[in-house]
Amino acid sequence: MQSPALLLPARPSNEPESLAEYCSRGGYDGLAAAKDKGAAWLRQEVDASGLRGRGGAAFPTIRKWQLAADAVGDEKYVVANGGEHEPGSNKDRYLVERHPHAVVEGLALAGLATGATKGYLYLIEDMAGPRASAEMALREANEAGLLPFPIEIHCGPTTYVAGEETAALNSIEGEPAKPRKKPPFPGEAGLFGKPTTVNNTETLAHVAWIARNSGADFAAIGTEESKGTLLFTLSEQVEKPGVYELPFGATYRELIEGCGGGLKDGHTVRAILPAMSAAFLDGAHLDVPIAYETLGPLGSSPGCGGVRIVDETTDVVALTLEIAEFFMKEQCGQCPPCRMETNQFVHILKAVQASKGPGYDAKMTRLANFSKRKGHCSLIEMAAAPVISALSCFANDFAEAAGPGAQES
Ligand SMILES: Cc1cc2nc3c(=O)[nH]c(=O)nc-3n(C[C@H](O)[C@H](O)[C@H](O)COP(=O)(O)O)c2cc1C
Ligand code: SF4
Repeated sequence: MQSPALLLPARPSNEPESLAEYCSRGGYDGLAAAKDKGAAWLRQEVDASGLRGRGGAAFPTIRKWQLAADAVGDEKYVVANGGEHEPGSNKDRYLVERHPHAVVEGLALAGLATGATKGYLYLIEDMAGPRASAEMALREANEAGLLPFPIEIHCGPTTYVAGEETAALNSIEGEPAKPRKKPPFPGEAGLFGKPTTVNNTETLAHVAWIARNSGADFAAIGTEESKGTLLFTLSEQVEKPGVYELPFGATYRELIEGCGGGLKDGHTVRAILPAMSAAFLDGAHLDVPIAYETLGPLGSSPGCGGVRIVDETTDVVALTLEIAEFFMKEQCGQCPPCRMETNQFVHILKAVQASKGPGYDAKMTRLANFSKRKGHCSLIEMAAAPVISALSCFANDFAEAAGPGAQES
């Protein structure tokens, strides 16, 4: 498949893109057009684009923007969320480090569309490279008088949950980076209690492209319900690890073989985890077009695109335990059902590994069903997705590890 490069154009250098280089490819033309044509025009273009958030939940960008635009208030905020800390995902770091102006322009556009008076670029503490690039971009954009309102960088702690939007808002307010109970949603009462729009940095870079081109041009790329391109991260499992941009409708085979050069040492794909917080897809789905409407019915989603590959040598019970341990460690402790679920998953999976796991699948499924929607944030569901899907995707491996009769509860 021909890959349109909306966010990652071919360049002679890996240095952070300067203002001059960004402007030479039309950078900040979209912001100039929006200043000229107004917020309603910009919202119309983003509505026509069909853009959905790239932070993992795929929420329609225009719905979030409209909520904040309709909210009454003299002060409003906009936040670019670059708090990426999902194992296997490197796309936000890469984007901010290499193309900081695209994110800054998108943030300024989101602010114009929603009536924001101040913006924040939210990163986490271990992001020295992205932070340096973002500082350079803000300095250049300020000196050129491009920004319609002040934009500050804020670095939150290096934890997974600090990337959740209300945890990010708490961190900016100087509070511990833990998710807030919702409602109210940030569009109604967010940062310092004011209407706030939080968008992922990749989402915002797409907004800059849409304003520069058009919503219709963006909607022409991708599939019926999944528009534009998506960034993916491939790890050291493949010959050519890195961050790649593909249009929706491409397949995991194209990503892994075409972009990544295939698995190292001639291994073969047995299953795919599209993102740490998604559900496993059997290798038979390598040629399914990647889109919300195709992966959703399979119980999965593209998530934030940090792809993990299961090959014929992977110990899938150990991998599932590793994932469960990650969520147990990263949950923030505020909600008893989340603490219980994530701890119990680890406990039960360890029992399976030790061949002492009677009824493991019924117990874990019951836990996941009980916990649904009982947390302040969706980590509680994110933790269940890979674990519960592993039980069916690798049913024989689990049954063998758990020992005879272990599936009967
Ligand atoms: C535990 C957890 C971690 C998250 N981490 C991130 C993150 O690192 N970056 C991000 O943009 N969104 C993250 N999200 C999603 C955000 O809460 C929010 O939905 C997103 O920033 C909205 O942007 P979007 O609509 O452009 O996708 C996380 C959510 C949860 C529950
Ligand atoms: S669901 Fe889990 S991670 Fe989210 S706020 Fe509650 S305890 Fe923290």
